[in-house]
Amino acid sequence: MTTSSSTAAEKNLIVKFWKQCLILFLILLICVALFFFKNEQNNGYILKTLELRGSVNDGNTLFKMNCVGCHGITARGLVGPDLHSITQRLNDKQIIKQVIEGLTPPMPSFEIDPQNMSNLLTYLHSLK
Ligand code: HEC
Repeated sequence: MTTSSSTAAEKNLIVKFWKQCLILFLILLICVALFFFKNEQNNGYILKTLELRGSVNDGNTLFKMNCVGCHGITARGLVGPDLHSITQRLNDKQIIKQVIEGLTPPMPSFEIDPQNMSNLLTYLHSLK
């Protein structure tokens, strides 16, 4: 009798263990799915931005409103680095990611629509 009840307890433990594994696995799956979803969204955003034609003037205005606090009024650098010749060091995709993803604190991520991102990118290209 004791042996059978202990195996029942063991079985319970095993079921519990697998249930927890399953939950962990599901959480992991959701995280991976969210990661890919976000990536896909950003890819779509980047492609859209690269298709557009930007305006240096509008980009300059955007830069003055959002970026000068850290990169300086002439983009020569302050808290953030000098952005002259940035377009030679980073490709467009990397620059867009830098602006929208906030990967390097203290630089925040910016919510900016593709047209304005394109303007900003064109402005950065105009800095030699
Ligand atoms: C709160 C301050 C802050 C603001 C605002 C900010 N940045 Fe930055 N930015 C930084 C810092 C600090 C870095 C350097 C991060 C690092 O260590 O890689 C950086 C890095 C960058 C880089 C990469 C430079 C390199 O050499 O790799 C680009 C491009 C950039 N910023 C563009 C922008 C643009 C465009 C804006 C405005 C939309 C902006 N930043 C607003 C602080 C800021």
